[in-house]
Amino acid sequence: MNGVYIDGRWHAGAGAHFENKCPATGDVVWAGNGADEAEVTAAVASARKAFRHWAHLPQGDRSVILERYGEEIAKRADAIAETVSRDMGKTLWESKSEAATMKAKVAVSIAAQVERAGTKYSKADFGSSHLTHRPHGVMAVYGPFNFPGHLPNGHIVPALLAGNTCVFKPSELAPGVAFHMAEAFAAAGLPEGCLNIVHGGRDTGGALLNADIDGLLFTGSASTGVFFHKHFAGRPEVILALEMGGNNPLIIWDPADVDAAADIAAQSAFLTSGQRCSCARRIILPEGAWGDQVAEAIVARAEGLTIGAWNEEGIFMGPLVSERAAVNAVEFQDMLLARGGRALKRLERLERGGGFVSAGVVDVTGAADIPDEELFGPVMQIVRVADFDQAIERANATRYGLSGGLISDDDALWVKAHQEMRAGILNRNRPTAGASGAMPFGGPGLSGNFRPGAYYAADYCAWPQASQVSDKAGRMSAVGFPK
Ligand code: NAD
Ligand code: SIN
Repeated sequence: MNGVYIDGRWHAGAGAHFENKCPATGDVVWAGNGADEAEVTAAVASARKAFRHWAHLPQGDRSVILERYGEEIAKRADAIAETVSRDMGKTLWESKSEAATMKAKVAVSIAAQVERAGTKYSKADFGSSHLTHRPHGVMAVYGPFNFPGHLPNGHIVPALLAGNTCVFKPSELAPGVAFHMAEAFAAAGLPEGCLNIVHGGRDTGGALLNADIDGLLFTGSASTGVFFHKHFAGRPEVILALEMGGNNPLIIWDPADVDAAADIAAQSAFLTSGQRCSCARRIILPEGAWGDQVAEAIVARAEGLTIGAWNEEGIFMGPLVSERAAVNAVEFQDMLLARGGRALKRLERLERGGGFVSAGVVDVTGAADIPDEELFGPVMQIVRVADFDQAIERANATRYGLSGGLISDDDALWVKAHQEMRAGILNRNRPTAGASGAMPFGGPGLSGNFRPGAYYAADYCAWPQASQVSDKAGRMSAVGFPK
């Protein structure tokens, strides 16, 4: 397959050969060469050339092309969904929802662009004051595997709307959807060179880091994001928007409906087989009989989840993205157990192999040295605490701050949690995962660099230009200034 898209044309790619296997069947679903350094340089040069024209188009013209892109995505929604599911294993209902979100992103981004990066005009005694926003230039966009279409799309659409051009490096674990995006943009009339695509792994990603870019829009793991942040240290002229992971807490405190609480907790932890950045990793429960009841109800749900391939009926959880990820999940659970955790339900690799695992629930109360790390899979940790203050303290005992939640009927507890829990996405009686695209998305700590995405993506896609304007040059006066 073609690994490089430059100036509106696909090429084979001269970089390293790589393959992607469907984690459910083991079939090779993408095989080809990635982009080498020269091709990455050419992709950036193409984007730079296209920028001159694209940035100067009226905003309305860019919006029309993006709206057409949304329509073209909708026409390809089934193909997009199948490609995503085959590539990284999630269920078809989830991939369909991802495709729908990609289309919906256009309207949200247009509204956000107007509201957060629009224009302002006011009269002044010398003439007028104007606020406009200018694009940065060429944006490198790095995508993760878990939403390989929606998340890079969530950078690319607002970046293009603002007048930037893009070079997109899709995840090597889910490369297929980029082809459909390129087709949709071409059919929508996006000028050649405004979106270039360089497939590949670390080599290609590294070459893009070193190319002549004005911004880097990244969604992925904290370790990669920190590496990028260090790479650009001392270069404030390059805008970095880093959307990273979390070790997300969910407190459950005495809601009347134990089953509802267990539903919310299990969906928070096990949606997309735990491969959402906003999944709850740590469930915090009170000590005592009521907490035991909730833990049991959660375990019952973990035991009852249907697990299967994306094209099987009635599946809640697909496989993890790869066999390697399944091994990592088992090893992470083993580490929790070795440090004193108690398995309430073991995560196990399933007989059908590949990325298939069951969900795991480990009580880590009293365990020593549990690392503050995100395991990107269906491993839920449960922590039991004596009172609500301790619950908040445990919730905040993380370097991350992406999502969090409280399940409780008590308004006063919600007020306290809302004030004290340090998480960019903080929900009450709702799963931690499944964020609204019409709100900002991001959080403090290692979860990002305070450039939240989704509705606030408009902020990092343009810089403000403030002008005082007088039609004619007039004489100036000031105290002590010669007349
Ligand atoms: P990842 O960091 O491994 O990879 C993301 C992208 O960066 C890929 O395109 C990859 O090829 C590239 N990359 C990785 N290392 C690189 C290097 N050294 N040089 C150049 N390029 C490099 O992330 P992933 O495993 O694909 O995605 C899962 C992670 O993403 C999880 O940690 C999850 O929490 C996070 N995530 C965050 C959000 C968010 O919005 N905050 C959303 C989804 C996923
Ligand atoms: C993600 O981006 O990984 C998850 C977004 C969400 O479902 O909240």
